[in-house]
Amino acid sequence: MSTIYIHWPFCLKKCDYCSFYSVTCPKDLDLNLWLSAYERVLKKHLEEFYNNEEITSIYFGGGTPSLVPSYFVADILCYIDKYFKVCKQAEITIEANPGTINCNKLKDYKDAGVNRLSIGVQSLVDESLKILGRIHTSNEAIKCIHEASEVFDNVSADFIYNRPGQTLPDWQDELHQICKLPVKHLSLYELIVEDNTPICKKIDSGILPKQNETSEFFEETCRIANKYNFNQYEVSNFAKSRTNNETLPTYYSRHNMSYWNYEDYYAVGPSAHSRITKNGCKIAIEQIANNSLWLTWSKHPVFECEPLDKFAEYKERLIMGLRTTHGIKISDIDEKIQKYYGLKNKLEKLIENSYIIIDGDVMTLSYQGRLRLNLIVQYLSRELQ
Ligand SMILES: C[S@@+](CC[C@H](N)C(=O)[O-])C[C@H]1O[C@@H](n2cnc3c(N)ncnc32)[C@H](O)[C@@H]1O
Ligand code: SF4
Repeated sequence: MSTIYIHWPFCLKKCDYCSFYSVTCPKDLDLNLWLSAYERVLKKHLEEFYNNEEITSIYFGGGTPSLVPSYFVADILCYIDKYFKVCKQAEITIEANPGTINCNKLKDYKDAGVNRLSIGVQSLVDESLKILGRIHTSNEAIKCIHEASEVFDNVSADFIYNRPGQTLPDWQDELHQICKLPVKHLSLYELIVEDNTPICKKIDSGILPKQNETSEFFEETCRIANKYNFNQYEVSNFAKSRTNNETLPTYYSRHNMSYWNYEDYYAVGPSAHSRITKNGCKIAIEQIANNSLWLTWSKHPVFECEPLDKFAEYKERLIMGLRTTHGIKISDIDEKIQKYYGLKNKLEKLIENSYIIIDGDVMTLSYQGRLRLNLIVQYLSRELQ
């Protein structure tokens, strides 16, 4: 099983907090040039790595992929379908910014093959949307969610909390409103103030207040979301249950689950990075984070492959797997690596402190453990003295 990620590196306007690779979209962008570049790079993945395994998810992320017309999405999906073995029930997601879509465009995406929409809302408070540098108002975002839920069964929305100036009661009120929206999935992220972003500069120069240093925002987020039957299945991700479908019990993002389960993924586009298993070894491939250089490279793509050693693989597996409520299979970790890091003793200590739960072969973090995720990953991947 593998997944495919397509990175669209353009936005209408850069948001003040965001450090994902994207640039402002030029008016005269040559879409055909980009389409053929994606196809060439997909073909190269196919030739070099593809083993005829099933593709279970395709994800158009960005940037703002909802800037592209539906024929662009349809063409890429057609291409993937022709050369890769795409599972019949594959999840096909597109990220959308409310300032870039309308009802007709949503229907066109559905006709093109998209079956899941992930909407970046960030806040239901207009003042906050301004601070974040978003291009839409709260009412526009709410309208977009309602329209999307008429077209798609599987709609997700992203929000950011612990924003400058936001108090805990502000967030509690907002989250109650969020949980009543007609969506099946929520990604609720704590704001990360990334270096050199406009929001970081404003906080450093005192124009905006600093974030609150408390875990209460996270704790309240989990408590309130769960109250509305959004079940937390990863640190920042919450999904409703499905009712009449036993093969797919919840609306969790299958695409993101594949990352957290450390499955292979082929990623295409400027700044995209893949993880692919070749001859039993995980390989990391990074594509350049520069649009014009990427376009030139895509004419004759040659991958710079970095094989990950077992130590790097172990750390990645921990970082990904411990974020989820599905956890990590201990038997998936190489035995020599387990001994090297003294995993058995460390796990015993974490169990004593009620930070980790072991169920058969699977280890997961407890609620208290999730509050200390980074510290626990550091502890488990620290070499023995
Ligand atoms: C790549 S963006 C795609 C969504 C779409 N481009 C939009 O913004 O409407 C994915 C999500 O990451 C989250 N995000 C981006 N930067 C963040 C930051 N610095 N801190 C917390 N969350 C962030 C936002 O919630 C955003 O919707
Ligand atoms: S948050 Fe989304 S719309 Fe804003 S700059 Fe980042 S990718 Fe673009």
